[in-house]
Amino acid sequence: MPDPRVRRIGLLTGGGDCPGLNAAIRAVVKAAVHDYGISVAGFHDGFAGLVENRARELSYNDVSGILTCGGTILGTSNTADPFRYRVGKGRRAAWRDLSARAIRNARRRGIEALVCMGGDGTLTIARRLAAQGLPCIGIPKTIDNDLRETDVTFGFDSAVETATEAIDRLRTTAESHHRVMVVEVMGRYVGWLGLFAGIAGGGDVILIPEIPYRVEAVCDAVRKRSRRGRRYSIVVVSEGAMPRGGGRTVDRVVDGSPDPVRLGGIGKEIARQVETRTGIEARVAVLGHLQRGGQPTAFDRVLATRLGTEAARLAAGGIFGRMVAVRGGGVTSATLAKATAGLKRVPPGHPLVRAARAMGASFGI
Ligand code: F6P
Repeated sequence: MPDPRVRRIGLLTGGGDCPGLNAAIRAVVKAAVHDYGISVAGFHDGFAGLVENRARELSYNDVSGILTCGGTILGTSNTADPFRYRVGKGRRAAWRDLSARAIRNARRRGIEALVCMGGDGTLTIARRLAAQGLPCIGIPKTIDNDLRETDVTFGFDSAVETATEAIDRLRTTAESHHRVMVVEVMGRYVGWLGLFAGIAGGGDVILIPEIPYRVEAVCDAVRKRSRRGRRYSIVVVSEGAMPRGGGRTVDRVVDGSPDPVRLGGIGKEIARQVETRTGIEARVAVLGHLQRGGQPTAFDRVLATRLGTEAARLAAGGIFGRMVAVRGGGVTSATLAKATAGLKRVPPGHPLVRAARAMGASFGI
């Protein structure tokens, strides 16, 4: 066993959950304990557990049997930010910087480094905590696949699988009723999930945030299929998609969240407009949090295991301030600063956009 540079680490899952988190927790803990003799404390509910000093020991046995489970055994929060932490309730609510308390809590528990699993919000907080003296290592997770410096995040493949299965099911009923079926998928401000699920599900129209659409072009695609005797159409729309010259459709604003905007509703609007303009009946299915639930795919289990073991290796080697990543098939890492310097968007000329077009899919332009 190599001599580790740290004896004890903390672990938390932040932001929205996704399939593969438990596989990654298992990987970090098993590798830390077994390969390096490092003990692990798991904080409950993301950064809320760090600020409120709520944690549990994670032994080898504690993480045995969780590989296939969805969700996170630690719980998570997509509102808890130590730098802007909500204290008090209702009208008495106020936001305070409790980052010093969070770091103190970690130190009192003997934690020498904190492994944070999350998306850009969680990893931005990790970067800021690291700058204040708490060594951090990031593990990229999100169904949105929008993190820079990694080819893919775990959770994405599972979400694509779920969305694709849903599209397959919606196709048969759309065909029976000669309808346009609009399927709204998640993905926040990027279109990776819409693009992959759209291609895998054979979407006739794929609308993603990076390629603003014209509703008339969407209608044209539907009419064209109708003229060819295809009396139904599948429109896959990312929740962040927007019309040319227009804005995103916002479902709600979550007070106190580091990223307060929750998207949603674009599918309904498109279905309404397509039905009005083409005269063809349209329905909408919003896949929502179904895409975040359930078991991880085999791909995500493997990816989470690779990234989790790499994070343990970095901790043991005393290498901090980095996010573990996959590039070109190999496991590597990048600075947290680079990983959180903006989102990884779909380039409009991406080969997959071209492939979808070659299959006859319209991007509504
Ligand atoms: O970032 C993951 C994600 O599922 C996005 O795709 C979606 O926009 C958002 O989280 C939903 O957040 P919430 O769980 O707060 O509704």
